[in-house]
Amino acid sequence: MQFTGDGQILEQKKRGVVNPYPPLYSFNFRGIPMNFFFLIPSSTIRTSTPKKIKSVIGGQKRVDVFSRIMLNLCRWKDRCDAKLVVVLYLSHPEENLTFTIPLDSISSPIENELEATEFMIHLLNSPDELGITIEKQDFSTLLSNLASDCNFFYLTSSGEDISQLDEDSMKSKNLCFILGSQMDLTHTQEKNLSKFNPTLISVGDREYLASHVVSIINHYLFTKFK
Ligand SMILES: C[S@@+](CC[C@H](N)C(=O)[O-])C[C@H]1O[C@@H](n2cnc3c(N)ncnc32)[C@H](O)[C@@H]1O
Repeated sequence: MQFTGDGQILEQKKRGVVNPYPPLYSFNFRGIPMNFFFLIPSSTIRTSTPKKIKSVIGGQKRVDVFSRIMLNLCRWKDRCDAKLVVVLYLSHPEENLTFTIPLDSISSPIENELEATEFMIHLLNSPDELGITIEKQDFSTLLSNLASDCNFFYLTSSGEDISQLDEDSMKSKNLCFILGSQMDLTHTQEKNLSKFNPTLISVGDREYLASHVVSIINHYLFTKFK
């Protein structure tokens, strides 16, 4: 298609020639929708500190990193029948808390940064109101629990290209993508993770924001397996 810049793209979208929304992709194993987990530890986010919109956006605890991850994953969740689940792990020694957030259980819309930030504040201040499961556990217990029905993929720029995520690895188990938030995993976390023999995958030589990495993973899965 030759691009003339005279409004043809907008016109085609209006007429439905260019679909602005990608079709629904199917990820299931023997008819059961797969779960895609995104496990992201943070050592800085604390439940104890008061959180307001102003202190969260650009604040040192970097709750905003998670707001963006939530926003980006919510945009993908309606495009496939896999269940997307965010596992936020607060690794500060006084926390050791896991928040397991199935995105289809969120009733309030997350369509922009403000809504994503409000969700995060609500989640950290009063998770019970949102019906989110919280467990106090160390990182290795969390990994053991997930490993029972997940294949692990550790996101690192020094891993193998994401294209090694092929049909064989998609079969038989749910997928769990593990990545750092504003910081990489610690040595201890990596050591714990290594016991589960994760596949190391890279989305390129450069370092990307965690919220970008989750989008790249979804983009890859949805274009490869559509
Ligand atoms: C913002 S980065 C972490 C901080 C970064 N390593 C730094 O200090 O500059 C967030 C996480 O996204 C993942 N990540 C970033 N770039 C990546 C890449 N090119 N390939 C795979 N994973 C990547 C890693 O898990 C990383 O810990």
